[in-house]
Amino acid sequence: MTIPSADAMKREAAQQALSRVSAGMRLGLGTGSTAAHFVDLLGARVREGLDVLCVATSERTRAQAKTLRIPLTTLDETPELDLTIDGADEFDANLRLIKGGGGALLREKIVAAASKKMFVIADATKEVQTLGAFPLPVEIDCFGARATRLHIERLANGLGLFGSIVERATASGAPYLTDGGHYILDCAFGVIPAPELLASRLRAIPGVVDHGLFIGLATAVFIGGPDGVRILGDAA
Ligand code: 5RP
Repeated sequence: MTIPSADAMKREAAQQALSRVSAGMRLGLGTGSTAAHFVDLLGARVREGLDVLCVATSERTRAQAKTLRIPLTTLDETPELDLTIDGADEFDANLRLIKGGGGALLREKIVAAASKKMFVIADATKEVQTLGAFPLPVEIDCFGARATRLHIERLANGLGLFGSIVERATASGAPYLTDGGHYILDCAFGVIPAPELLASRLRAIPGVVDHGLFIGLATAVFIGGPDGVRILGDAA
């Protein structure tokens, strides 16, 4: 038996999530390679006549959707969505996520929070027992970035979390800027035993815009594996 590639498993998860989309839905479109599969597949359905209205979580996704002629709106025009479909860098059995590897965590969280449901699409390698193998992205304001970073380090150490905190950079070495014009710190804390506590403490630091812990937002995870797609949570 040939084992499908991670990319094929991502696409299969996206395909299954797409089967839950129906005419008239207002959708949030995620960011990243898995979400890009979903947008691609959705574009084909739109070409066939499916009527949906979508909000993109990044300029990258907006450009892809526009090319595919998927009808787009904004949260200002359409502040309530039926369903957001997005990827993740990690998820656990309680549908808690780490996101932001693609740098879009703030808009992804805003869009997910404006949606009645959030379906995560991922290949099986993203499933973990405890969050933290993937460095946690923390989006911070550029003003006072060093002070904010120190705050984060002290807070983490106080919670027993240690590890490198790296300012994300572009291939040319310039600081990476999010669509909102902020920096990202990738925090390699290792295992995060109490994600809720870390999430609330991080948000309380002035200068932290948001972080990649998504808790209480995902309603289902579509997991693409070698034997097909498994669903965690409620995908009804
Ligand atoms: C972007 C994200 C992505 O969903 C996450 O990084 C997963 O990406 P991919 O589907 O390419 O593995 O959070 O900010």
